[in-house]
Amino acid sequence: MVVDDEILNRKLIEAMLKPQGYQVMVAVDGEDCLSKVQQEAPDLILMDIMMPNMNGFEVVTRLKSQEHLALIPIVMVTALQDVNDRVKALEVGADDFLTKPVDRMELRARVRSLLKVKAYNDHMVNYRQELESEVAKQTLELKNASIKIADAHSKLRDASLETIFRLARAAEYKDEDTGNHIISMSRISALLAERIGLNSDVVERILYASPMHDIGKIGIPDRILLKNGPLNDEEWSIMRMHTIFGGQILEGSNIGFLRLGEVIALTHHEKWDGSGYPNGISGARIPLAGRIVAVADVFDALMSKRPYKPALTVEQTVDIIKAGSGSHFDPMVVDIFLENLKDIIKLWENAQAEQHIVLDKSHNLDTIHIS
Ligand SMILES: [Fe+2]
Ligand SMILES: [Fe+2]
Repeated sequence: MVVDDEILNRKLIEAMLKPQGYQVMVAVDGEDCLSKVQQEAPDLILMDIMMPNMNGFEVVTRLKSQEHLALIPIVMVTALQDVNDRVKALEVGADDFLTKPVDRMELRARVRSLLKVKAYNDHMVNYRQELESEVAKQTLELKNASIKIADAHSKLRDASLETIFRLARAAEYKDEDTGNHIISMSRISALLAERIGLNSDVVERILYASPMHDIGKIGIPDRILLKNGPLNDEEWSIMRMHTIFGGQILEGSNIGFLRLGEVIALTHHEKWDGSGYPNGISGARIPLAGRIVAVADVFDALMSKRPYKPALTVEQTVDIIKAGSGSHFDPMVVDIFLENLKDIIKLWENAQAEQHIVLDKSHNLDTIHIS
């Protein structure tokens, strides 16, 4: 595009370039140039400086301020020899100069080299845009895929959790009026595990695994499980088998929380001093998950009303657990229990408020108040 207010100058430059095969657009002044470039952007602009209304500097400033035009190379064509004009032209963003009268060879050389620069710039801009759109496309695909995976994962997790709770409920079905026993004892177990400092994976596994602690009660005959009144020695020895049965029901799984469920079923009645069952193991030989669940299980059982006993108060319950520290319970777990008593009571009360709702969204770890 040749921008010049004098028709002779325009004709002269046109005449020099057209034989070379260039298409030449013309603009008669700054306004004309600014409006024409919006319709069809040229690859190069030859700009006169001294023009009425708007001089060349002003036109260049406006062109360079528009992002889609800023990469068009501009050659200032001027009769002026003034160094200040050249500096100013550079400052507003012109790319090169030609002095009038324009030399044919010089014009052609400038035009050729600047068009090469323009072609290279165009190529880079296209390439960048292609890259950007390809990256955006792949990012979107990746994002969609990961949303789908997360969704599937969370559905699977909900399904596993629901299965566990229903299985655990089956075991408790004929048993004492346990209310929300498995819900509160599992949440308290998870809270204790978290406060002990176990990592979040283990905490989550304990939350999922602990509801199955009494699953072996399925194998205990009704005459013992539902007996009105105290059990005799023989009945007790059968009742104690629920730990072994639970271990057998869950044994051999390669799923983490089921393996942990096996461990908990087998060890939640072991005692720190070795007087528990089924194996009479003691101290740190009892797996930590079993020691944690022992405290949570007894806490909830004491706090709850059962057909054969009233609910104890918090003070009575805490006294019993304190008294069992070092004999029944791991003293470290009891210490953590006492340090976090407030939160545990809150958790227990919340679980009671969910009377007999065995499954809803609140069983998800996300909404369980363990932090
Ligand atoms: Fe049990
Ligand atoms: Fe229990």
